[in-house]
Amino acid sequence: MENAASQQKTSYDHPDAIDIIRDIVLETGRSKEALIAVLKNVADRFGYISNVAVQEISRQTSISAAEIFSVATFYRMLPTTQRGRHVIEFCESLPCHVVGGRELYRALLDQLGVQPGETSPDGRFTLLTTSCLGVCEVGPVLSIDDNIHGNLTAESLPDILARYE
Ligand code: FES
Repeated sequence: MENAASQQKTSYDHPDAIDIIRDIVLETGRSKEALIAVLKNVADRFGYISNVAVQEISRQTSISAAEIFSVATFYRMLPTTQRGRHVIEFCESLPCHVVGGRELYRALLDQLGVQPGETSPDGRFTLLTTSCLGVCEVGPVLSIDDNIHGNLTAESLPDILARYE
């Protein structure tokens, strides 16, 4: 269930960034039906969807930048701001909350020094909250990237976080 290796992202400052975006559109499709997949692929490649990406996708698809931006901001899986190297999603649903999630959440905020939606100053973690991750039996739970960590306590948190550079 665990893979701490993060995929290397391409910077929007890369000299070929526009060509890469163009290729993603060509490979994924120019239709409105393909837009979410295009945005997902761009976010996977660059880490988030920037204004530059929105403008280029608009040029390639003839979908307005406003419409692309509204789609991108509607879906949680499509980040429109730069995120940390790892994304933590903390389960704030009741079953986790009542088995120690509340205390764990306070400890997490303390250890990261951030509020939900923020990225730690070292760029390591972005903290998001989420509803049930589907593994309530091992609550309290959080995921880091695609890895689920359960049965967490404030004491076990530092060891978990240390696995992600
Ligand atoms: S309520 Fe937290 S995983 Fe289900």
